[in-house]
Amino acid sequence: MVFYFTGTGNSLYAAKQLDNERYSIPQMLREKNLSYTAEKIGVVCPVYGHEMPGMVKKFLKKAVFDTDYFYIILTYGNRHGGAALLAERFCKSIGKKPAYINTLLMADNFLPAFDMTEQLMEDKHIEEQLARIKADIEKQVSHIQKAGKQDLEIHKAYLAWVKGAPETVWADYVITEKCIGCGICTRICPAGCIHLENQHAVNTGKGCQACFACVHACPETAIQFGDIPLKEPNPDARYRNPHITLTELVRSNDQAH
Ligand SMILES: Cc1cc2nc3c(=O)[nH]c(=O)nc-3n(C[C@H](O)[C@H](O)[C@H](O)COP(=O)(O)O)c2cc1C
Ligand code: SF4
Ligand code: SF4
Repeated sequence: MVFYFTGTGNSLYAAKQLDNERYSIPQMLREKNLSYTAEKIGVVCPVYGHEMPGMVKKFLKKAVFDTDYFYIILTYGNRHGGAALLAERFCKSIGKKPAYINTLLMADNFLPAFDMTEQLMEDKHIEEQLARIKADIEKQVSHIQKAGKQDLEIHKAYLAWVKGAPETVWADYVITEKCIGCGICTRICPAGCIHLENQHAVNTGKGCQACFACVHACPETAIQFGDIPLKEPNPDARYRNPHITLTELVRSNDQAH
């Protein structure tokens, strides 16, 4: 049994390689009973600022796992900044003890810093990493990925930088006149914070996870960043994991149906 959170499909792709019994965290959070029993229970999600998304933390706080083996896989695109250690600390703070936490380097969907055309071309040896992780999980290996001195310094510097910024620093979106009212963003948003008004998307921002799913999936590139600290290197390029369909992302995240 594996639970996943995904904005652009990387974490769903990884979850698909690890277990056939998969559940989307944004959908599970709509359920009343969050008690699960399985021989192995996993969580796969991206890291945002080296940490798990808010919705994943919320799920982990609420969920009750009855399992012999609890593992977490954290997908990231550039620097994990000691993400496994940070996830372990978080789990400890809520009384959970994963046996295994590892990171998985994939395409970086962080638009303010990366050109998606380049990310799509870069070979990050994903299949080799996944094969190793899969073998570990099959053997129920106990291992929490260590954080190096450099990882911790990167995270410390990030925390110092982000301290003065608003919590929604990356979630400042402008929906331009290019919007054709197709509604894709309203259904791909795991927080359900976008709706249509007069055939134009409106983002309330309420509960936004800054997952960038809406920005990446808009077929008109009508969703652009507003006043964020970095400028996009390529505002025309967008990303979806090449093995994942738009329908799969909508099914994973849609809060309206
Ligand atoms: C708001 C935001 C913050 C991110 N922060 C990090 C980060 O700190 N380090 C990193 O290596 N990648 C970071 N990324 C990249 C994602 O973790 C990575 O692309 C991930 O695989 C996306 O997973 P998904 O396709 O399942 O949404 C960030 C992405 C977003 C949208
Ligand atoms: S996905 Fe883009 S075009 Fe479609 S409704 Fe949303 S903003 Fe408008
Ligand atoms: S508004 Fe966009 S970035 Fe925010 S949670 Fe919804 S899909 Fe993700």
